[in-house]
Amino acid sequence: MKGPTNLFFMGKGGVGKSTSAALTSVFLAQKGHRVLLVSLDPAHNQSDIFEKTFSDKPSEMMPRFLVAEIDQDAWIRTYLKDVHHQINKTYAYLTAFNLEKYFDVIKHSPGLEEYALMLAFEKIRKNYSHFDYLMFDMPPTALSLKFFSLPSLSLVWIEHLLALRREIIEKRELITKIKLLGKEFERDKVLNKIEEQRKQYQALKEMFEDTLHTHVFLVLNPDKLSHAESLRIFNALRQINIKLYSTIYNKRPANKSCAQIDPVFAGIPMLNFPYSETPLIGMSNLQQFLKANEEVLEKQITVC
Ligand SMILES: Nc1ncnc2c1ncn2[C@@H]1O[C@H](COP(=O)(O)OP(=O)(O)OP(=O)(O)O)[C@@H](O)[C@H]1O
Ligand SMILES: [Mg+2]
Repeated sequence: MKGPTNLFFMGKGGVGKSTSAALTSVFLAQKGHRVLLVSLDPAHNQSDIFEKTFSDKPSEMMPRFLVAEIDQDAWIRTYLKDVHHQINKTYAYLTAFNLEKYFDVIKHSPGLEEYALMLAFEKIRKNYSHFDYLMFDMPPTALSLKFFSLPSLSLVWIEHLLALRREIIEKRELITKIKLLGKEFERDKVLNKIEEQRKQYQALKEMFEDTLHTHVFLVLNPDKLSHAESLRIFNALRQINIKLYSTIYNKRPANKSCAQIDPVFAGIPMLNFPYSETPLIGMSNLQQFLKANEEVLEKQITVC
């Protein structure tokens, strides 16, 4: 499987996910890579960091570097439209049972955000498959973990649905065969659709577990709360077989050369971003920061 590497920036609120994603993106673009930075956080920060209004449609910040901010509500509408279309197509014969009523309920079901984000993510992967790096500024921890768990969780449901559907088909065919004396039947549409989805989620699951394609960066600060949340993220990801690629020890105080981080993270590569007295806002400030920390970034990884 070729294609771009996905970099995900996770961490407790305010630790510097958006800033780290912006810095790393500019760094990679300056090195000549094609980079797309996408904010999947509904409370977007990239517009403020780059002092430019972004939208769903990526805009160019510098050659080879694009930025977009996902419109979550629009993606929820797209997702619902898609579900509506699929239901109508597959169960057209059930109109008598007032399908619209069920659809009204789906609109309020929990979990729509992660389905919408996944849809946006897949569209980006498809449209920018020729890029080198797709950088994702992630939403708050709870939603980010739901996003990563979505493929595994959906696969559990899908296995049950497949078994159920096969049972239905078997019974139905038995009855029809008696009626039509063993005529050939076309393949079941519903079964096809479920199998198609299984393939899609299996591919996503494999991609998230594949350390060549998925690099999860966990951003943390020198404070207890961000450490505690980072540990929870680390464990939650491990449960779904997703490994951390690197921690980013951000806002490192000037008097500390190395991070005092939890032994759990020992052995995991770590990037050090010192505390910047100059606000990390605007392209030229980001570039200045990168220049001042070139040595650290060139080495990529600083193990303490
Ligand atoms: N290395 C740094 N030095 C100084 N200030 C920093 C550094 N990194 C980030 N900041 C500042 O910290 C604040 C939070 O950063 P940022 O918005 O990137 O965090 P976040 O994790 O994306 O927050 P949110 O959870 O709200 O999305 C911002 O004011 C940002 O400019
Ligand atoms: Mg942010």
